[in-house]
Amino acid sequence: MYLPSVAWTLLLLGTFGTNEAAQECGKPQVANRIMGGQSAQPGQWPWQVSLRLNGKHFCGGSLVSATRVVSAAHCVTRNVVTTSSLTVHLGTYQIDKPNPNEIIVAVKSFIKNPNYTETGSLGDISLIELATPVNYTTYILPVCLPTVNVDFPMGLYCWVTGWGNTRSGVSLPSPQTLQEATIPLIDMPTCDNLYHIKSGVNSSVPIILSDMICAGYQAGGTDSCQGDSGGPFVCSQNGQWFLAGLVSWGDGCGKLNRPGIYTRLTSYRDWILKNAPEVAENILNVTFTEVVKKNAYLSRSASNRTIPLFHIFPITWILVLMII
Ligand SMILES: *[C@@H]1O[C@H](CO)[C@@H](O)[C@H](O)[C@H]1NC(C)=O
Ligand SMILES: *[C@@H]1O[C@H](CO)[C@@H](O)[C@H](O)[C@H]1NC(C)=O
Ligand SMILES: *[C@@H]1O[C@H](CO)[C@@H](O)[C@H](O)[C@H]1NC(C)=O
Ligand SMILES: *[C@@H]1O[C@H](CO)[C@@H](O)[C@H](O)[C@H]1NC(C)=O
Repeated sequence: MYLPSVAWTLLLLGTFGTNEAAQECGKPQVANRIMGGQSAQPGQWPWQVSLRLNGKHFCGGSLVSATRVVSAAHCVTRNVVTTSSLTVHLGTYQIDKPNPNEIIVAVKSFIKNPNYTETGSLGDISLIELATPVNYTTYILPVCLPTVNVDFPMGLYCWVTGWGNTRSGVSLPSPQTLQEATIPLIDMPTCDNLYHIKSGVNSSVPIILSDMICAGYQAGGTDSCQGDSGGPFVCSQNGQWFLAGLVSWGDGCGKLNRPGIYTRLTSYRDWILKNAPEVAENILNVTFTEVVKKNAYLSRSASNRTIPLFHIFPITWILVLMII
């Protein structure tokens, strides 16, 4: 539901301390004090947006310029998703408690990558154009995108954020505070091997495709989950954050041998530039120099909690559609 009273409150509160100076992408103004906690701090992940369908949160996304949000293709493939049913909430911290730093913006248009056909296919990425450009604030800032050749090394710990389920079928309790979790990257051959275990799929048939990136633990535990879809999976270098992936799919949440799968952003630089040329200033090269532990995925998860993937079982879809 779109609540007119909320919209009015936001309008009356008016100004949002605009920053005149050019803003660098990927640099939150709020220090990341409590990394590893489960609830984020306000302003810690200023590119995180909440996509609403008729006012109801259903997917995440990331701000990449003043007018564009990148999300998953599977978030916008259903017929019920139209420019008029869709709104983008920026500066959101708690879903159930709108705050003065939050703004609600209408959608001018959206496109999905034409290669996307179904869960697990190539191309799970979409671009949403906002009806009006947003002014950047402490709570609303774009993330950087990696250029094509950026290497996200196996064992690098990155962060996933969202308002998705805390376990399969268990939604985030009110007031639905933005959740964060750190998980290590897993390289493609290792991840593909894990996904073949007890899958019944011939090992010569790839499950993890070239435009996917995996992260998590072999033992399960911390993971993204339903409702996090389309949201950011980010890695930092010198305090600047890069969008490595988009929450895409998985087999359940936090299950043994089934790490989370993210759409690999380096595969889509050209597609993004072609469809949203103004994003160019936020596409950067970077070398990750942090010490990595290649076998981090073999260690035990820091917590059993799963956070924000639209891990799509047909039954989940049916439930979600009914709720919407
Ligand atoms: C679709 O996939 C093919 C094969 O991987 C690729 O060459 C092409 O660039 C993709 N198209 C888009 C629009 O991403
Ligand atoms: C952004 O700031 C400008 C200048 O202060 C203002 O005119 C404009 O209405 C603001 N835009 C939004 C979407 O708030
Ligand atoms: C897997 O695929 C390969 C190559 O297509 C084939 O030779 C092999 O028999 C298959 N294995 C099984 C168990 O189906
Ligand atoms: C994770 O689950 C195991 C087994 O269910 C339990 O013993 C452990 O305390 C849990 N850890 C956390 C951090 O909840």
